[in-house]
Amino acid sequence: MKRILIVAGTLVLGAGAVMAQQDIAVQQDNLMRSQAKSMYGVILKMTKGEIPYNQKAVDEAIASLEADVAKIAKTFEVNPKQDVVNATYGSSPKVWQNKADFDSKIPPVQKAIAEVKGKVTDVASLKAAYTAMNDRCTDCHETYRLKLK
Ligand code: HEC
Repeated sequence: MKRILIVAGTLVLGAGAVMAQQDIAVQQDNLMRSQAKSMYGVILKMTKGEIPYNQKAVDEAIASLEADVAKIAKTFEVNPKQDVVNATYGSSPKVWQNKADFDSKIPPVQKAIAEVKGKVTDVASLKAAYTAMNDRCTDCHETYRLKLK
């Protein structure tokens, strides 16, 4: 009986560890998705005229990006060693082999955001801001993001 209990206990612990790692991967993915909501769901759509220009929405999207980007280094501190179930993108193992270089890709995004914050007033300036910010996101993705499917 005792032995069965120990085995059952080990199984529960094992499942807990797997859950925790999936949770970490999901947190990392959610942070990127939140950035995508501001960048593509709001800003890119407005530059294309898919949704009308709205100053308040622009300012909120840029403020939200600023807050999210500040969380990248800490959110990616732990290697979940697994991808989010069914995800299109995953993290390269290089993130944790070279975390300092990964982190060094963050300040350029923050600088690009700071440079456009409060200065976007119309679709033309929004287009320029989009490119300036998104190019810096891409700089990290080129090395550290993997396409899974
Ligand atoms: C320091 C590196 C880094 C920076 C900077 C960065 N990302 Fe990412 N991004 C990643 C990694 C690693 C992944 C893959 C893991 C994941 O999806 O969580 C990713 C995934 C994504 C995904 C795919 C999410 C999915 O699974 O559907 C989107 C969208 C995204 N990033 C948007 C952005 C945007 C927008 C910015 C700029 C504001 C940005 N990222 C800045 C590293 C970065």
